[in-house]
Amino acid sequence: MNKITAAITAVGAYVPDFVLTNKILETMVDTNDEWITTRTGIKERRILKDEGKGSSFLGIKAAQDLIAKKNLDPATIDMVIFATATPDLPVAANAAYTASKIGATNAFSYDLQAACSSFLYGMSTAASYIESGRYKKILLIGADKMSSIIDYTDRATCIIFGDGGGAVLFEPNEDGYGLQDEYLRTDGIGREFLKIEAGGSILPPSEETVAKKQHFVQQDGKTVFKYAVSNMADASTKIMERNNLTGEDVNWLIAHQANKRIIDATANRMELDENKVLMNIQRYGNTTSATIPLLLHDYEKQLKKGDNIVFASFGGGFTWGSIYLKWAYNS
Ligand code: UT7
Repeated sequence: MNKITAAITAVGAYVPDFVLTNKILETMVDTNDEWITTRTGIKERRILKDEGKGSSFLGIKAAQDLIAKKNLDPATIDMVIFATATPDLPVAANAAYTASKIGATNAFSYDLQAACSSFLYGMSTAASYIESGRYKKILLIGADKMSSIIDYTDRATCIIFGDGGGAVLFEPNEDGYGLQDEYLRTDGIGREFLKIEAGGSILPPSEETVAKKQHFVQQDGKTVFKYAVSNMADASTKIMERNNLTGEDVNWLIAHQANKRIIDATANRMELDENKVLMNIQRYGNTTSATIPLLLHDYEKQLKKGDNIVFASFGGGFTWGSIYLKWAYNS
């Protein structure tokens, strides 16, 4: 019997309707379109405005899109992994709620949190379960309602983030398509530079934490930028070396969309042509767990069976890594 690899066999996505443009942000904080565009590449982001809806809403919509496109019977899904840094509730996972809502009645499910690397790590987790032979259909969702943890008076963070959701299906493949190799790393030094201070077990919510705005994301952008540029490029070039891939052999770079300059630096180190670098940060900003599946969704038609894709991410924690995957289908 051939070795079982874990292939992505379907993609779905959802973004909310409301568009928060750089022009609107100019009316909210001391910033301007030119600064945001040149420093980050972002032009607009989507925001989930509806009251009472959390990140599970985005994930459920993305999963339903995938299920409809693939004509998939949700009862055949074995497992649902929900990658998110903004769960609906601190306790009671998004995954269990989502699985029930989409009709995945025979699945077990859990949430996975690794900040901006949640989806990349989720790919590793889903693929390992498939490669073990134990499960046949794993739905990996990445969705974040970043607007719920952003201070819209802080120009250092509010220009960056947006809301969105995406989903992919992993299935076994015996022809060599799917995940080939991974290089994943963490470094706890990152906790100082990108965090939400309160609301966890060290500093539970109180009137004081609310007054001090400690429930919002705080980021030392310059420091995170430096670590992101060197680590994402290192991980991506390592995975290429390990698999004897040159810039010519790689068809696409699918990188977490945090800052266009970080992605460009990674592509440079990989010696990749610009047209191989998938980008949609201009439309959605940084949607944390959703950036990678949103790229797969937006560019799905251009991906061809056998294409060599390098995935890369860097995020809070710090968490980062790279995955080499052979695309498994033409759409
Ligand atoms: O996905 C999770 C991981 N996160 C990341 O990868 C984010 C990494 N960091 C970044 O992408 C960038 O550091 C930012 C986009 C967050 C900031 O860009 P930067 O080029 O590092 O800017 P900076 O923080 O060094 O600020 C440069 C200048 C400062 O003014 P002075 O001190 O030079 O006079 C800031 O006060 O730009 C100013 N500034 C702004 N100006 C207009 C900072 N934010 C803004 C703003 N609009 N929104």
